[in-house]
Amino acid sequence: MAEPRENWSGRTGFIIAAIGSAVGLGNIWRFPYVAYDNGGGAFMVPYVIALLTAAIPLLFLDYIVGHKYRSAPPRAYKKMVKSAQFVGWWQTLVSFVIAIYYAAVIVWAGSYMFFSFGQKWGEDTTTFFVSDFVQHTGELTSVFVPQMFTGLIIVWALSILIMFGGIRKGVELANKICIPLLMVLFGIMVFKALNLPGSEIGLNAFFEPNWARMSDPNVWLAAYGHVFFSLSVGFGIMVTYASYLKKNTNLTGAGLVVGFANSSFELIAGIGIFAAIGFMAQSTGQDVSEVASGGVGLAFFVFPKIISTMGASGDFVGFLFFGSLVIAGISSLISILEVPISAFQDKFDWSRKKAVTVIVGVCAIISISAFSTGSSLVLVDVIDHFANNIGIVAGGLLSIIWVTWFNRHKIPGLLAHSNRISSIKLGGAWVFMLTVITPTVLTIALGMKLVDLVQNPYEGYSTTILLLFGWGVVVFFGLGAFILTRMRGVHDDEDDKSRLIDDTI
Ligand code: ALA
Repeated sequence: MAEPRENWSGRTGFIIAAIGSAVGLGNIWRFPYVAYDNGGGAFMVPYVIALLTAAIPLLFLDYIVGHKYRSAPPRAYKKMVKSAQFVGWWQTLVSFVIAIYYAAVIVWAGSYMFFSFGQKWGEDTTTFFVSDFVQHTGELTSVFVPQMFTGLIIVWALSILIMFGGIRKGVELANKICIPLLMVLFGIMVFKALNLPGSEIGLNAFFEPNWARMSDPNVWLAAYGHVFFSLSVGFGIMVTYASYLKKNTNLTGAGLVVGFANSSFELIAGIGIFAAIGFMAQSTGQDVSEVASGGVGLAFFVFPKIISTMGASGDFVGFLFFGSLVIAGISSLISILEVPISAFQDKFDWSRKKAVTVIVGVCAIISISAFSTGSSLVLVDVIDHFANNIGIVAGGLLSIIWVTWFNRHKIPGLLAHSNRISSIKLGGAWVFMLTVITPTVLTIALGMKLVDLVQNPYEGYSTTILLLFGWGVVVFFGLGAFILTRMRGVHDDEDDKSRLIDDTI
């Protein structure tokens, strides 16, 4: 006997959880360096265009599909179009893989929260991070890193505990604690950063547009990949979260609140971080470009350096910054885990307890084994790049193509469902965006990225690393989705019937 589907306590509980999912490492750790590497202020142009032409229309689609069919992506898409179950599993597996490395970045941040006291990273913060802390060699290595091991055990134990609590007493409660705490910690940190001497130099550099970069297709793909990751669309999270909503919920209104909150937080994070970078540039007489050139390591090489220039008061700023990263990371990690948990419950009628034990257990075992080694930096870098730029973008594109190109007749039903309960009515503009603009842009961007990745091995990593953890991960999404789609689910007959009814509406 299946457990009845849980729900949020109300619309506010859902919005807080959706913001908790959207605001994550992507906003604090990823956005500032992605924006800076891709044209600074000029990046705002592809960012806003990506947000309006793809992420928001797709967010609405995710909400409507999740809410109308009240299931995680594989079953929700299957109830709509039988073959689309594959799309749902693709998205679910992307989430599964992201959860595995996402936890490692939370552990980096958690460790740095403690390193802040007494500024344990010393003078050479890059060597400290790369060699002393993560013990990176540039290649795959099995050397054991005890600190990562302990941190990962804590993060996974906490995750399993929250997920056992279910939707209201686990996910919703955790977000209700995390989000206000995050606002306070991060708010103080940004305020402090803005008051540092030289902050305006960093802000000028951050906002100064480098228009020449706009002709680079990689900049556009980076914008689409990032906006999807940041807003948690394209990999099943919003479909899953919306499936726990009560019958009459204003979907589009909630979507706009979440989208606006996420982008505002992202912008504020960029401002806070570049204000601190400006301070460092001024106090060391360097150029902002020299200070900010850390890429993935911006948060972990550059920020500690900035903190060191602040003297003893830097300890507190470090604690605020890395503490914010941990909190934002946890509230997003649980949303990422909810996708496979819910998908397996749907397919095999597993109890919540069993789904949490199996899914979080498997993620934890893989994550602890792979990331407690000196390979963690290589693995995070490669898997994050492929999972985002290919896994998420393709996940979003596949869902749109299945619904809008192959099964156009489904659109009126989706529109009617949303417009019946939502304040902002969707119509021709949304359909045009979703059926023409978004898929065209995504197809071009994805095509160019694939060609680029084939021609220029990512970051010059060895073929073995790229085949195993880059392309291998993409093959895993496709093959895994194919196998899971072929497996018989407990509700297949029931879903076939409900699809017939849905088709006649
Ligand atoms: N949306 C989450 C983030 O930004 C996954 O980190």
